[in-house]
Amino acid sequence: MVQLTGNNLISTAVFISGRGTNLKSLIKFSKKKNSPINIKLIISNNNKAKGLKYSKSYKIQKKVIDFKNKNIAEKKLLNLLSKKKIRFICLAGFMKILSKKIIKKFSGKIVNIHPSLLPKYKGLNTHQKALKNNDKYSGCTVHYITDKVDSGKIILQKKVKIKRKDSLNTLTKKVLLEEHKLYPRAISKVFKN
Ligand code: GRF
Repeated sequence: MVQLTGNNLISTAVFISGRGTNLKSLIKFSKKKNSPINIKLIISNNNKAKGLKYSKSYKIQKKVIDFKNKNIAEKKLLNLLSKKKIRFICLAGFMKILSKKIIKKFSGKIVNIHPSLLPKYKGLNTHQKALKNNDKYSGCTVHYITDKVDSGKIILQKKVKIKRKDSLNTLTKKVLLEEHKLYPRAISKVFKN
């Protein structure tokens, strides 16, 4: 394995649309000695995203990009990513689908966290679906991004047992806690190869 030091850490951007709890866990991870990444940029399509507050508290540059015109948005995005020499992208609750152009440009360099045991329950409302189907387990998955939504190669998965007394709220919280541990582990795995 290549030893990553302050100088050759992977310049990373995290894309968010909302709360940003996964962003926070990734930032904390990035500050650890054994982290391969250095988070240089936070991108959001939503200027009201709560997670943008971590830009200030952790002194990381943020940029809000309006995605109403996807073409223009992605041009701005690509310019910024190249200016900041970004080599790796973590999607963390980012609610926009990136075009083939960006996915191709960052082929194998964009990862996402999804709150289900993929390939089960792609898309939204994953925990509702698991509860409705009386599943024994829910969980979360970190996977590579391809041009097919929630379908790229799986990096790591964590199962979470659904108990009879679980509600949407308790299940969502339980899985989210696991997400915060799984995402850093998955990134370590990516760069160990
Ligand atoms: C997480 O459940 C993640 O799996 C999904 O969107 C949610 C984002 O939560 N893709 P947060 O903004 O990281 O708190």
